[in-house]
Order: sequence, then structure tokens, then C-alpha cells
Amino acid sequence: MADLEVRPSSDADIERVELLIADGLARLHTLRGGGALLETLGVGDDASPAALARAVCAGPRDDVLGYVAVLEAAVVGVAVAVREPRCLTVVGVHVARSLRRRRIGSALIDALGGVASTEGVRLEAVALPGDQTTKSMFEAAGFRARLLRLSVER
Ligand SMILES: CC(C)(COP(=O)(O)OP(=O)(O)OC[C@H]1O[C@@H](n2cnc3c(N)ncnc32)[C@H](O)[C@@H]1OP(=O)(O)O)[C@@H](O)C(=O)NCCC(=O)NCCS
Repeated sequence: MADLEVRPSSDADIERVELLIADGLARLHTLRGGGALLETLGVGDDASPAALARAVCAGPRDDVLGYVAVLEAAVVGVAVAVREPRCLTVVGVHVARSLRRRRIGSALIDALGGVASTEGVRLEAVALPGDQTTKSMFEAAGFRARLLRLSVER
């Protein structure tokens, strides 16, 4: 999409990122595995959109990487990845509802792919079992499921 800028998130993005995260969290809580996904970010089930937005926009960190997509000075998408020993793992991508299917999610993944390649690590991604849209986006970007992780509550 012309005029789309994808860049690391910063403090100035917190307010808009919070709105996107609030929408994403509402959906996440309807999907199986949502709590486990939040755990990978080191936050609990009750994490607030504001707290998550602050964590994602805190600037360069060793463990979490936030990227935003900006269109006409407005943040319209956000992606979050966590650094693991041999890979960068995308744990969330969210795009404003009115702007979906315009390759914004794909542009965010491409940007994180660039970071992974610069750092010489693999780019991986996680998706919730019921989140077909996210899986479709990753598959369209060439990702293939390699491992399904199952768990049981005891
Ligand atoms: C998943 C998401 C990030 C995709 O962002 P997007 O900018 O709309 O995706 P793109 O335009 O880059 O899509 C690229 C490709 O992915 C696939 N895709 C994306 N959305 C799709 C959908 N709804 N259905 C089927 N395929 C889809 C298509 O192959 C698409 O290419 P095409 O439009 O040429 O067919 C967006 O739908 C979103 O934010 N969803 C909510 C995710 C969420 O909140 N999950 C909660 C738990 S974290």
C-alpha cells in the first residue's frame, strides 16, 4: 500500500496502539489458548490494553519487539515479536478493522522478517487454534505449521 510506513513502535504510539490492542484482546479472550499466548509475553490473563501498549511501545528491548504500521500519520497496525534463543517469534499482529486485506499485516511481518534476517535468526510465529484469519495471513507469507503444541488442564 502506497504511503504505508512500517517502523519500530515508540512512546508516542502508545495511545493508538492501546486501541488496537484492546480490540485484539477482546478477540483473544474468545479464542482457546488466549491466556497461554499472553503468558509468552510474560503477562497475565488480566493484562490491561494500556499496560500491554506500554510494554509494546517501551522502545528497543532485548526481549520484546514492537512494530507499527502508520498511514497518514495514524497507527493502523501493530505487530509484537519476542526474542528467543535462535528465533524471533511473532506473537501478535493486529490491523484496524476498516483497513484489513490491504497488506498491512503482511508489511508488518516483512519488517520483522528483515529484523530476523539482520540478526541471523529464524522468523517464527504463533497463532491461536481458532484464529483462521491470522493463520491465513502467515500462510500467505510462506509460513507453514511445523508443530502443534497441545496442553491439558489438571
Ligand atoms: C490477521 C490480520 C492481522 C491480517 O491483517 P491484514 O492486513 O488484513 O492482512 P493482509 O492484507 O496482509 O493479508 C495477506 C493475505 O493473508 C490472507 N488473509 C488475510 N486475511 C484473511 C481473511 N480474513 N480470510 C482469508 N485470508 C486472509 C490472504 O491470503 C491475504 O491476501 P489477499 O488479500 O491478497 O487474499 C487482521 O485480520 C487482524 O488484525 N485480525 C485480528 C487478529 C486478532 O486480533 N487476533 C486475536 C488474537 S492475537
